[in-house]
Amino acid sequence: MSKKLYIKTYGCQMNVYDSTRMADVLAPLGYVESDSAEDADLVILNTCHIREKAAEKMYSDLGRARLHKVAHGEQGKRTLIAVAGCTAQAEGEEILARAPYVDVVVGPQSYHTLPDLIKQVEATQKSVVNLDFVEEAKFDLLPESLQPQGSGAFVSIQEGCDKFCTFCVVPYTRGAEFSRPVDAIMREVETHLKQGAIEITLLGQNVNAYHGLDEAGQEIGLAALIKKIAQFDGIERIRYTTSHPRDMDDELIAVHGEVKNLMPMLHLPVQSGSDRILKAMNRKHTAADYIAIIERLRSARPDMAFSSDFIVGFPSETDADFEDTLKLVETVGFAGSYVFKYSPRPGTPAAEKAEQVPDDVMDERMQRLMKLISTQQLRFNRQTVGTVQPVLIERLGRKDGQVIGKTPWMQSVVIENAVHMMGRLVDVRIDEAYEFSLKGEIVGQQARITRGEAA
Ligand code: SAH
Ligand code: SF4
Ligand code: F3S
Repeated sequence: MSKKLYIKTYGCQMNVYDSTRMADVLAPLGYVESDSAEDADLVILNTCHIREKAAEKMYSDLGRARLHKVAHGEQGKRTLIAVAGCTAQAEGEEILARAPYVDVVVGPQSYHTLPDLIKQVEATQKSVVNLDFVEEAKFDLLPESLQPQGSGAFVSIQEGCDKFCTFCVVPYTRGAEFSRPVDAIMREVETHLKQGAIEITLLGQNVNAYHGLDEAGQEIGLAALIKKIAQFDGIERIRYTTSHPRDMDDELIAVHGEVKNLMPMLHLPVQSGSDRILKAMNRKHTAADYIAIIERLRSARPDMAFSSDFIVGFPSETDADFEDTLKLVETVGFAGSYVFKYSPRPGTPAAEKAEQVPDDVMDERMQRLMKLISTQQLRFNRQTVGTVQPVLIERLGRKDGQVIGKTPWMQSVVIENAVHMMGRLVDVRIDEAYEFSLKGEIVGQQARITRGEAA
């Protein structure tokens, strides 16, 4: 008998990947994913701990899940509630203290044990917590079968982080860096391609630090892995995220010029443009290092575009430091970016600093930076007006007959009357550009990129 599974995912794409894998793990138990928590037999909140807001959001959603549990219970049925992800790892038992109706707390490195944990809860009627940290075991024990992901699929190739930026919880919630072996990744990519994916996004908290073992037992880096993956028939687009500037090595930069189906858009977080703040953040690169990497990538592939993450109001950030960030943004010219207000996280070194920046100062800096980035994003989007771009049609739009696709640079393109093109790569003439989207019309089918072809 099938049971209803509802998963809510917070945070980064690693969590999106983990949610799909939790569904894979639970499928043999009869769990089928549904898009509402109402009358779900199992509700999983796959949480994020990166900023305080993200963690607090979980508790309000838990309150709602509890109401479903109570309503379901009144009909004589049982709803289990599980908290997974980074907040589960960081708070563990504390979650049970604040929300005793939670049945399972499971960390990001142990969700392959979900079937056992659920059986345990069912047998004992007591809550269980599993926060074990055995990365290798997780990937080894996850099923090879995957739920089809549509035209674009995520494949996690690397987990964890050894960089210890002083603001960040990830090294604590995800643990030490670990790279999956090449053959396991190749099998997973192949399965997705067979199931209809044409775009593969390689994921990792520090994806360009990838150093997995190949079939011959040799360590290979991300550049070599991308070249291998580009050989698969039917792979039209390859992306990877998220990268650290420190790991953008020569080979990886060169690959951008060598592999045509590696998309010319890179998310490369810089966090700040002030060398003093970068040092305090333990980023181990300067603003000039970052700009040099961007320049080299642009020479390798002239149509490269970039996005970044920025933190405003890191402890002790002065107006002058912030001006340096604006300067860096002016110099690079981004196609978009995320701006975050610094959020002190328990257990991180920066949270202990005395010189926290007042909230109104953070707000003002955030507004200024976002305005500058918006201008750049709009300028970038406007450049495409009048051109024809390859667009992968991914989802339905809000209006009838409308679909939304993605250009090589991750721009969303809204197209009317094209539902029959779902999942296809088409040529689209771009007619209008806004800050967060483009509008266009299909003018032809996209010719397939032959494998490994040079850019
Ligand atoms: N591994 C990636 C991304 C980590 S988290 C990287 O190294 O770049 C995603 C983004 O959240 C970070 O790039 C950073 O900009 C932001 N972030 C992390 N911790 C934060 C904190 N304490 N406060 C505000 N933003 C934070
Ligand atoms: Fe966090 Fe820094 Fe690691 Fe990124 S590199 S996950 S920001 S510690
Ligand atoms: Fe959040 Fe964990 Fe990702 S803290 S950003 S879900 S690695």
